[in-house]
Formats: sequence, C-alpha cells, structure tokens
Amino acid sequence: MRISKLVLPLLVTLSACSQQESMENLTERVFRVAQQQYTAMDTRLDNQTLPQTIAVDSSFKTSTIYWWCSGFYPGSLWYIYEYTQDPSIKLLAEKNTLKLDSIQYVTHDHDVGFQLNCSYGNGYRLTNNEAYAKVLCQGAKSLSTRFNPQVGVIRSWDFVPKSKDWKYPVIIDNMMNLELLMFAASKLGNDTLRHIACTHANTTLKNHFRNDYTSYHLVDYDSDNGQVRSKQTVQGYSDESAWSRGQAWALYGYTMMYRTTGEKKYLQQAENIGRMLVSHLSNDCIPYWDLNTPENNKYHDASAGAIMASAFIELSTFANDCNDRKAFVLMAEKQLRTLASPIYLAEPGTNCNFILKHSVGNLPGNSEVDVPLSYADYYFLEALLRYQKIKQF
Ligand code: GLY
Repeated sequence: MRISKLVLPLLVTLSACSQQESMENLTERVFRVAQQQYTAMDTRLDNQTLPQTIAVDSSFKTSTIYWWCSGFYPGSLWYIYEYTQDPSIKLLAEKNTLKLDSIQYVTHDHDVGFQLNCSYGNGYRLTNNEAYAKVLCQGAKSLSTRFNPQVGVIRSWDFVPKSKDWKYPVIIDNMMNLELLMFAASKLGNDTLRHIACTHANTTLKNHFRNDYTSYHLVDYDSDNGQVRSKQTVQGYSDESAWSRGQAWALYGYTMMYRTTGEKKYLQQAENIGRMLVSHLSNDCIPYWDLNTPENNKYHDASAGAIMASAFIELSTFANDCNDRKAFVLMAEKQLRTLASPIYLAEPGTNCNFILKHSVGNLPGNSEVDVPLSYADYYFLEALLRYQKIKQF
C-alpha cells in the first residue's frame, strides 16, 4: 500500500507521540531519583548546614541557615514526602525544617520569605502543625520591618558593593518573599501585612518593567522620597538585558500575587510576562542564563527553566485566553520533559546528590556557573506536583 505524502508526516508524528513517555511515568521516575538523592544528601549534612551546590574543586558545598537558599532542601523533602508519603522522608523534612527556626527573627535581609515559605510553609500545608504557622507569622513580621512607606517597597539588600552607590536596592526576586506576607496576613487577619505585600507588588510593577515586559534585576530608590535613582541587571549580561531567573521570579511572583489577592492587574502582568517568555524560549525551552546572552556565552540555566515551568502551570489555570492557557501548559510540559532527560537529571549517586545539573547562580560574579543548585531541584519537584494536580493522573 502506498502512503501519500500528506499522510506520512502524520503517521511519523503519531508514532513519535505514542513513544513519548507519559507524564505520569516521568513524574514517578523523577521522584524515585529525588527520594534516593535527597535521602543520601542528608548524610552529608550536620545540624547547622544545608546543601548549596558543587564547588569549583568538585566538592559538595553547604551553606549556613542564613544563606538565601536554606529553605529549599527542607522544602524539596516536603514535596518528596507529599508524592511518596514515605514516613522516613517526613522525618528528614521535619528535621531539616527545624534547623531554620531562628530565621523567623532575621530583619537584615529580605530572603526570609524564600527561607521560611519553602520549608515551614510546605510543612504547615502538609501537616497543619500550628507551631510551623507561628514561625511563619513571626517571619512575616520580621520581613515587614524592611518596608519603607515613603518608597512603597521592601528593601532587598543592606550590603552595597564598593563599585555601586545603591541607597535602597530592590531586586525582582523580592516578589517571591511576598507569599510569606500574604500567608501571615490571612492567618492573622492582618491588613497591614497584606497592604505591604500589595504596595510592594504595585511599586515593582510600575518601576521594574520595560515596555516589552522584561524586567530589570535591580531598581535603586531614594529612601527619602521614593524617586528611582537607577535601574540595573546585576546578575545578568548587561543592565539592559533580561536575566533569565529574574524573568522567572517575575512570572512566578505576579501569578502568586493574583492567586492570593484576586487582583486582575497582577494576572494581566503575569500573562504579559508569560507571552513574552513563550516568544523567547526555543527548542528545549530551558533558557540561557540571560535571554540576551551573546552566542559565545551560552550556558543554560535549569533553575530558571524549573521556576518558569512551575509558574506557567499555575498561570495556565488562571489565564483568560484559551490559547494562552494551552501555550503556558505546553511550554511547562516541554520544560519538564527536558529537565527530566539525562542531560539535566542526575544519575542516582552522582551530582553530589542534587537532582538537576546545569544551573547558573551568578555568572557576572563568576559564582555557581553550570552547577546544581538547590532551588532548581525545589521548583522542578513543585512543577511536577502542580502538573500532576492539573492533569489529575
Ligand atoms: N535570589 C537570588 C537569585 O535568584 O540568584
């Protein structure tokens, strides 16, 4: 029988589709790796350390609880427990969460949101342990002390490198810390915390974005009158470029703010950022470390891909336009399939027990280039669980 030229491509596509691993199997396979890697990871830690990355000499690098990433390992353990229901993983999640107890009193840095929301936040969501909620609420109060009403934003960093003249630096990453404030606002019925979170999101929406919905990394403000002093991209290729993880934080942050407030302007912002990203991402859908990176400097950043995938899945459940909804979930699925491939997913027993390879922390700072990072793992697992929930397999 002769197959017409029109039918042949269709048959090839159908056969490729039938060979594609189901997302259910893929999720099961990744969580098996995650369970093995993260159980072994715990034996590398003492009661004050958390995993950070692999150092340049190939050794396992830990951080103290004060590093901004300290909540991701306990958070990933909670996700592994959520998927596997394995009580031994729950014990590890509890133990590693409790290491972060004193973060609730930190007022010198904005990352309290990342640290506590991922660890205690997931712990509370899965166990309803009120002691966890207490830590989260105290953490939110500590974070709120960094809000200056004259400026309308929470200050990100207190340190100022010698080469900079920042007075009141605010980075796009800070959108992620608002989830902690929104949790505590609702738990305590505290309108001030909610007002701080919304004001920060509104000021950032006004000042951090370019007309094409890409975001600067850092906006520096005059703390006396709230005037913008400068706009920069510290961890990206240039001030005018779009640092990929910054775009991922923006996508996730405005989607989360829509989920927690129902404010349409946050959804519109997330949809616009989402469309911009879909038009930039090609082939394997995992972004280079900067969307405008030059040809000779092309490291992919798995962490940005994982954060985007998680945000795209949530955004696909809210987006108004049916084509957007399809585009966002399709993009997330492609990102998850790529991250679950041997290029990115570690073989158990390798990669110093991290789950994913090939992330970029801070390339201009020559720090954490093409390495595993605990937050790539965290958002990858979160995205898989979110995908499972929307597809209900
Ligand atoms: N929040 C710091 C980073 O994304 O590198």
